[in-house]
Amino acid sequence: MTAEATETAEGTEALRSEISAALTAARARTSALTDCVDEADLTRQHSPLMSPLVWDLAHIANQEEMWLLRAVGGQEPIHPEIDPLYDAFEHPRAQRPTLPLLPPHEARRYAADVRGRVLDLLEVARFSGPRLLTGGFAYGMIVQHEQQHDETMLITHQLRKGAPVLTAPPAAPPADAISLPAEVPVPGGPFTMGTSSEPWALDNEQPAHTVQVPSFFIDATPVTNAAYTAFIADGGYDDPRWWTPDGWDHRQRAGLVAPMTWKREDGEWIHTVFGVTETVPPAEPVMHVCWYEADAYARWAGRRLPTEAEWEKAARFDPATGRSRRFPWGDGAPAPEHANLGQRHLRPAPAGSFAAGAAPSGARQLIGDVWEWTASDFLPYPGFRAWPYREYSEVFFGPGYKVLRGGSFAVSPDACRGTFRNWDYPIRRQIFAGFRTARSATAETA
Ligand SMILES: [Fe+2]
Repeated sequence: MTAEATETAEGTEALRSEISAALTAARARTSALTDCVDEADLTRQHSPLMSPLVWDLAHIANQEEMWLLRAVGGQEPIHPEIDPLYDAFEHPRAQRPTLPLLPPHEARRYAADVRGRVLDLLEVARFSGPRLLTGGFAYGMIVQHEQQHDETMLITHQLRKGAPVLTAPPAAPPADAISLPAEVPVPGGPFTMGTSSEPWALDNEQPAHTVQVPSFFIDATPVTNAAYTAFIADGGYDDPRWWTPDGWDHRQRAGLVAPMTWKREDGEWIHTVFGVTETVPPAEPVMHVCWYEADAYARWAGRRLPTEAEWEKAARFDPATGRSRRFPWGDGAPAPEHANLGQRHLRPAPAGSFAAGAAPSGARQLIGDVWEWTASDFLPYPGFRAWPYREYSEVFFGPGYKVLRGGSFAVSPDACRGTFRNWDYPIRRQIFAGFRTARSATAETA
């Protein structure tokens, strides 16, 4: 919904319903991820990379209280003494289990209390005037924040040891994947990257700006487990030619030999998905590889990772109109036939799925399934202004983080756009990340 549309009475009512539904969907997911395990599992740290689940739960509520009840609603803090415990910048994840956190029943009560007050506030909310309210931005930010923590909690579930507690059906295999080309061309020239019109866009996606991108080819689908297995079988992990110096150093020190969840057993690769061990499915996009592994695979294949601008152009640019779409398939919100989003499945769909979600370039699965590592460092767009707080993006800009695009099966449709940018350290493997490769169309632009 545009900011202008929300200035009419009907527009305000429609946005109110949209926000209410999005808040409810996020909370249903949070509850499902925290109600399926016992108190010990909620308070335990399953990996030093992750918070205890009960921290995420109260942190979600604390951020919701700070931004909606206090900043928008002007209300007094409910429990000011707990604010520092749930400040992500004050305590790194590894330290969080040592904090005097709210026990599960109190965390749940706090989250329910905040949500009740937020829904009361929403009843009388206006979506114009202050920038935080325009287009329902503050509500949209909180919806996306909760959904992002739901993805984080799903990663914790993936790292958790013990009997499976989550189930979901696998995606159906695509009917026409076999006839797909390996790569698709994207024409050279200018395109509009980023956005100045998405009401829920975060600061790092803004503003819209023109970028010149020379013509290139990009894989029609993410790289599959079968293709990645060929890289391993060809000695890819033992050949420093394919690795950057930093990547080779990390591969040696961390002892990398395969994606994070893979193991070799009786001559075949097996992996564990949310507590279930199975043969690695060849047609699914490879996942749980770090940037260094993705980059090494691309060199081995005689290719390279796409730049962030190339990825976005392949996903959004429509050569017929010259404009950039909100999503690969058009401007409409994601529907189940477009992309594997929202934890509908607990895994990526086989490569070549979602013909209806293809971009004008013909590339599929750019949205959903697996986050895709790009070649690019996380940097501000020209004209970037931090909003509404510096710690959302600005403090992370620089060469330490690589950009990921497109979202994974664990990303909510409410937290996903063609312009959305994610970032992480190049060594990280616990995230639901894979990649696709690219090549320049001419030697001069290589
Ligand atoms: Fe957070």
